[in-house]
Amino acid sequence: MSTIHIDEAAGSDDTGKGTPELPYQSLAFAVYSHPTASYLIRKDSAGTYEEPTQSALKKAKKGADGIEKKKKKAEELAEREAKEKKEERERREKLLEESKKIVLQEDPALPAAKKAKLSKLTDLRGSRVRVNGWVHRLRDQKGIIFIVLRDGTGYLQCILSGQVSQTYDALTLTLESSVELTGTLQPVPEGKTAPGGHELVVDFWKVLGAAPGAEDAFTNRLNEKSDASIQADLRHLVLRGETASAILKLRAALLSAFRQSYDANNLIEVTPPCLVQTQVEGGATLFALNYYGQPAFLTQSSQLYLETCLPSLGDVFCIQESFRAENSHTRRHLSEYTHLEAELAFINFDDLMTHIESIICETIDRLLENPTSAALIKQLNPNFTKPARPFTRLSYVDAIKWLNEHGIQHEAEDAEGNVIKDEAGNPKMVDHAVGDDIAEAAERRMTDILGTPVFLHGFPAELKAFYMKKIPNQGGDGPVFTESCDLLMPNVGEIVGGSMRIADMEELLAAYKREGIDPSPYYWFTDQRKYGTCEHGGYGLGVERLLAWLANRYTVRECSLYPRWPGRATP
Ligand code: 4AD
Repeated sequence: MSTIHIDEAAGSDDTGKGTPELPYQSLAFAVYSHPTASYLIRKDSAGTYEEPTQSALKKAKKGADGIEKKKKKAEELAEREAKEKKEERERREKLLEESKKIVLQEDPALPAAKKAKLSKLTDLRGSRVRVNGWVHRLRDQKGIIFIVLRDGTGYLQCILSGQVSQTYDALTLTLESSVELTGTLQPVPEGKTAPGGHELVVDFWKVLGAAPGAEDAFTNRLNEKSDASIQADLRHLVLRGETASAILKLRAALLSAFRQSYDANNLIEVTPPCLVQTQVEGGATLFALNYYGQPAFLTQSSQLYLETCLPSLGDVFCIQESFRAENSHTRRHLSEYTHLEAELAFINFDDLMTHIESIICETIDRLLENPTSAALIKQLNPNFTKPARPFTRLSYVDAIKWLNEHGIQHEAEDAEGNVIKDEAGNPKMVDHAVGDDIAEAAERRMTDILGTPVFLHGFPAELKAFYMKKIPNQGGDGPVFTESCDLLMPNVGEIVGGSMRIADMEELLAAYKREGIDPSPYYWFTDQRKYGTCEHGGYGLGVERLLAWLANRYTVRECSLYPRWPGRATP
């Protein structure tokens, strides 16, 4: 007869073998698994192995009986479940076999159905309609199938019951399959809700493109818990979601509203090129490419082209992609973004800021007046209130003062631009001084505290692009300031950058020189100053940034159809 070892502290009933090296933990389990053995038990490794007392043994026998009973019960349950599963499978197989015999026919006696988009159904209530779309939601309730159909224009609840819900296609229907549904459109019963206030009672339908189920089912590839990189890889599927599609619809409404506002303000739309041979916002952020053996770039800004349109078309605007090769992984930077730019002739700096404010406010008013776009704003940003006018204007010099008064510091840098660290390795923080670039973090804190749109204006020339006009008649030895402005929005920061432009040819030539820019490829831009120059100014607005503010999105990446950032140019 073998001897079984039990160590009540270090033993294990799961992995133990009853040996001195691998003892069991409980006497009950030892008795259960080796009923005829003799036993040695200890409390822990500090104690010695001893025979259990008679009463302990008696108790353990009872325990062993319990284990035996539990095991039997578990086996019975597993057996029953397996049987039920098998029966369910057989029932389903039989049902599927039966379902194949049901072939739906459209009843020719019914009134002819009118084909319609989901957003255009209200006037068709009470009549027979035919709709197409994707299965957005799917629920089978005691043989009645409820589908929420999506076609891009809206959503519709559809009910399949009786024969229409018993076909093979009905029993195997999956989310994201494309379908055609025909039936009578009815108002939803009192006390119930559905998108649009109506539902389709389906009398005939077909699957157009079945989506896979099981392993490859839509919800297995993508769901709310999918991590950010999977969501980025599957952006094409993310777009089918309610939030992503609402953002894109609002984006379309925003662009359309901007176009209406520009039209109302006599600005003409032009479409400048993307392939260019000049820089606008500094060489560091240019994407270079080989253009038939010549160096060329993807445009950073269409500003210079817009300036050339003034004598031909008057005030102009464009909505064009701009490209920035910035290695910025922030929530407001994209490598490609939609740039809304405008240029106006015969204006002064005050006119420019007033115009920017008016265009933005008029555009927001249009969005709020339109029930469809107003509903999208409500859905995405329920607390949105339109900004009060006039926007606060804060000069750059006053902003530096404000930051220091509010204890908002920035990282100290050495002459080479490297961050200076203290002994603990943390960046050394210092007050702002006139001449400093206001970094993104400080700017964001300022806008968040102010909580309203703010025009920051009058930046030092050395922080800004070569083309900016200097504030006239500046005295003193300090930095030279420009007629430039950034519009900052709460939660996002800078959404607009604009300025008056150098109108004088000599001044422009000096600016090229100062920035080390070869003027020859800019001959067409310089010519504007030669053939009837004028005071003019303009701006660029980041569409994704404005949308992030309007729709209360965490990042501009959510506001672009297929966002690009460093390392990401797919899908
Ligand atoms: O301030 P920026 O660089 O100004 C210009 O390009 C001017 N030439 C525009 C003009 O006067 N016509 O850019 C203008 C705006 C910024 O305020 C910001 O909203 C957006 O473009 N922007 C970006 N948006 C997303 N990702 C980026 N990497 C961006 N860089 C600028």
